[in-house]
Amino acid sequence: ALVNPLAMIEAARRKGAAVAAFNVHNLETVQAVVEAAAAERAPVMLQTTPGTLKHAGIPYIAAIAKVAAELHRIPVALHVDHCGSFGTIVQCIQYGYTSVMIDGSHYPYPENVALVQRVVEIAKAAGVAVEAELGRIGGTEDQVTVAEREATFTVPEEARDFAAATGINTLAIAIGTAHGEYHGEPRIDFERLTAIRSLVDIPLVLHGASGVPDESVRQAIRRGIAKVNIATELKIPMAQAIQASFAQNPRENDPRNYLGAAKEAVKRVVREKIRLCGASGLA
Ligand code: 13P
Ligand code: ZN
Ligand code: NA
Repeated sequence: ALVNPLAMIEAARRKGAAVAAFNVHNLETVQAVVEAAAAERAPVMLQTTPGTLKHAGIPYIAAIAKVAAELHRIPVALHVDHCGSFGTIVQCIQYGYTSVMIDGSHYPYPENVALVQRVVEIAKAAGVAVEAELGRIGGTEDQVTVAEREATFTVPEEARDFAAATGINTLAIAIGTAHGEYHGEPRIDFERLTAIRSLVDIPLVLHGASGVPDESVRQAIRRGIAKVNIATELKIPMAQAIQASFAQNPRENDPRNYLGAAKEAVKRVVREKIRLCGASGLA
C-alpha cells in the first residue's frame, strides 16, 4: 500500500541520505520509477503537479500508484507537488495520496501561513504528510514560471517561525536551485542551508535538483537535505528516447515500442539519482 513518507524521510536522514522524489505523468513513468526503486531496494516518492492531475486525472494516477506500491516490496509514497489549491488537496487525499505540498509561496507571509495551517489541519486528520515552501524557488514548473528577479531565498529565522506556526512535516527551501534546466551552473547558498538546518528541526526539501552537479547534491544532503525533487532530468531522456525511436523508424506507430524505450531511459536515470541520494538499500 502507499505509505506516509515521513518514516522513510526520517530514516534516510538518520543515515545521512535523502529520499528521491520523482515527478511522474503516466503509466510508464510510474512503472519506471517504482521498478527502478525496487531494483535499488530504495524507498521512493512519486509526485504529480496540478498540471499532471489535470492531464491524467486524480483517480487514474492514484489507482496506478496504488497498484505500483502493491506490486513491489518497497515503501512508496504518493505526493501532490506545488499545489496552490486547498480543494485539489482535499480531492487528492480522498483518492489516497499520502503526502501533499501546499505551495503558498507566492502569497505574502501571513496568507501563506494561514493557507498552510488549514491544509495541515485536514491532512493531519487523514494521516497525510504536508510539505510547504518558504522563499520562492525560481524557474519553470508546469505553467508556473518564477523569474530570476522574483525568486527569493529562504530566510532562516523566518523558516523557523513558519515551521512552528504551521505544524508542517517538511519544508521546501529556496537556496539557489531552480526548476528546469540551468543556464550555466547553479549557485547554491550552502551556508544558508546550514543556517536553516541549525534553526529548523523538520526535514528539508531540495527542489529543482535537475541540472545540479552531483557533488552539490551530495553536499546539500550532508548539510541536511532529506528529500530531493527531480522532474526535468527524467523528462529529457524520455523525450530523447521517443525521438530516437522515430528517427530510427519514421513509420513507427506502436506505442509499446516508443514508450517502452522511454521507460527504459527513465529507469536508468532514476537508479542513478537514487544512488546519488544514498537511498539504495534503505528499503
Ligand atoms: P527539476 O525539474 O529541476 O528537477 O525540479 C523538480 C522539482 O522541484 C519538482 O517539484
Ligand atoms: Zn519543485
Ligand atoms: Na533544476
